[in-house]
Amino acid sequence: RCRSLPGKDGYDLVVVANRLPVDFSVSPTGDLTWQRSPGGLVTALEPVMREADGAWVGWSGAPDLAHEPFDADGVRLVPVTLSADEIERYYEGFSNDTLWPLYHDVIAPPTYHRQWWDAYRRVNQRFADAAAEQAAQDATVWVHDYQLQLVPRMLRDLRPDLRIGFFDHIPFPPVELFGQLPWRRQIVDGLLGADVIGFQRNGDAANFVRAVRRLTDYATRGPVITMPDAEGRPGRHVRAQAFPISIDSRRFDELARTPEVQNRAKEIRADLGNPETVYLGVDRLDYTKGIRHRIKSYGELLEDGRLDVTRATLVQVASPSRENVGAYQDLREHVEILVGRINGEFGELGHSAIHYLHHSYPPEEMAALYLAADVMLVTALRDGMNLVAKEYVAARSDERGVLVLSEFTGAADELSPGPLLVNPHDIDGMKDIIVAAAAMDPKEQRRRMRRLRRKIMTDDVAKWSESFLSVLYAVQPPVSAEPRN
Ligand code: F6P
Repeated sequence: RCRSLPGKDGYDLVVVANRLPVDFSVSPTGDLTWQRSPGGLVTALEPVMREADGAWVGWSGAPDLAHEPFDADGVRLVPVTLSADEIERYYEGFSNDTLWPLYHDVIAPPTYHRQWWDAYRRVNQRFADAAAEQAAQDATVWVHDYQLQLVPRMLRDLRPDLRIGFFDHIPFPPVELFGQLPWRRQIVDGLLGADVIGFQRNGDAANFVRAVRRLTDYATRGPVITMPDAEGRPGRHVRAQAFPISIDSRRFDELARTPEVQNRAKEIRADLGNPETVYLGVDRLDYTKGIRHRIKSYGELLEDGRLDVTRATLVQVASPSRENVGAYQDLREHVEILVGRINGEFGELGHSAIHYLHHSYPPEEMAALYLAADVMLVTALRDGMNLVAKEYVAARSDERGVLVLSEFTGAADELSPGPLLVNPHDIDGMKDIIVAAAAMDPKEQRRRMRRLRRKIMTDDVAKWSESFLSVLYAVQPPVSAEPRN
C-alpha cells in the first residue's frame, strides 16, 4: 500500500466518520473479527477511496476496543478507541441527546451538559489527530456528520497543507434554534475549518450562512464565507452548498429484480393474508420519523371505518437505535403501547391491524418488503434526506406503488412532484392521503413512479460523492503551507 511507495508518507484521501464501515464481533474462540457493514456511504466512497489511495478513520462501535489500522478490500481502516464513559457523553450524550434533537426542530428537548461538551471536544480532537496522522502531504480529508463538527478546525490547525471537506448528513437548524446551544460559536468555527461544507438542502446551507452572519463578523457573499487571515485581512474562502445525498440505485434496482426477492415479496403478501392494500413504514425507531403520528392516523382510520383490517394492513419496521438514550426508550414505550392498543381493538384472528417489527433486516428482505408494499409511508417530522423513500423507488421497476412523503424531509425538496406530500402534524390531512394513496389508479401510479425513477436512477450516491469531491478538489491548495517533515 501507499506506505511502501517511495516518497509517500500517508494517504491521499482520508474519510473521517463516527463509525467505521465494518462491524466488529468477538468469535467463540475470543478473537476479534470484523464484517463489512453495507451502508450507503461505504458503497459511495469505496471506488473513490480505492482509486485515490484512501483511508477511513472511525469508531469501531464498541467500548474500549483498540485495534491496529488494517486493510479491508483495498481501503485502510483506522479504528478510533472510545471508552464506555466517552460513548455515554460524546455519542449518546452530546451527539444524540443535544445536537440530534436541536438539529431536528427540537422535536424532543435537547439536553445541555458541560461534561458532555468536554467529551465531545476531546473525542473530536482524537479523530482529528488520527486523520492528521494518516493524511499525506497536501491530501484531501472528508469529514462526515454532526458528531464531528469540530474536526475541520482542529485538523486545519494541525495540518494547514490539507484540503478539508465536511458533509452534514442531518438538517442544519435555523439560527433561532441553533442559538440555544451554549457552544454555538465553537461549532460554527469548527465547521469553518473546512474549505467546503456540504448540506442536504439549500435551506440547510442558508441556515448555516445565516448563523455565520449572526454569530461572527466574517464576511459572507452568497454561499461563500471569507475568513480573516492572521493579520485580519481577507483570507481563505469557505463554500457552504447543498449536495443532496442518494443511494446505490442500480444495486437496489437489480436486487429487487432477482427471482429470490420477487418470490419473497409474494410470500410476504401471502403471509399477510393477501390483503388488498399493504401499507409499509420503515424507520430507525427515532422520534424524528413521525412513527406515532402515522400509527395514530392509521388507528383512527380503522376506528372511523375508512379502513378495514380484513382488506388492509400496516407493516411497520422499526429498527432498534440508540437504545441507551432516554427519549428513544420513551418513544419505544409509546409506540408499543399504541400498536398493542390498536391491534387489541381492531385486530381479528388471522388479521392484524399493524405488524410491528422491532428488528433490522438485510437489503434482500428490505427489497422484498418494498415490492410487497402498495403504499410506502414516510412521515418524518424532520429528516435530513430520508433514504428509505429513495430505496422504495429504486426497488419499483414494475412502476407500481405509491410513495407518501413528508414535506419535512430533504427528499421532498428533491423528488416533488411525484410523491403524495403530507404534513404529518395534520392528522386529518394525513388520514385522507393514506386513503387516497391506496385508491390511486395504476395509470397515475405509473406516471408518478416513472418520474421518480428517472430522478433516482440517475442521481445516485456515486454522483453525489463525485459532485462533492469535484468542488473540493477545485479548491486551491494553500500556498503558504510548509511541507511536512
Ligand atoms: O442520519 C445520521 C446518522 O448518523 C447516519 O449517518 C446513521 O446511519 C444513522 O444516523 C444511525 O446513527 P447511529 O450511528 O447513531 O446508529
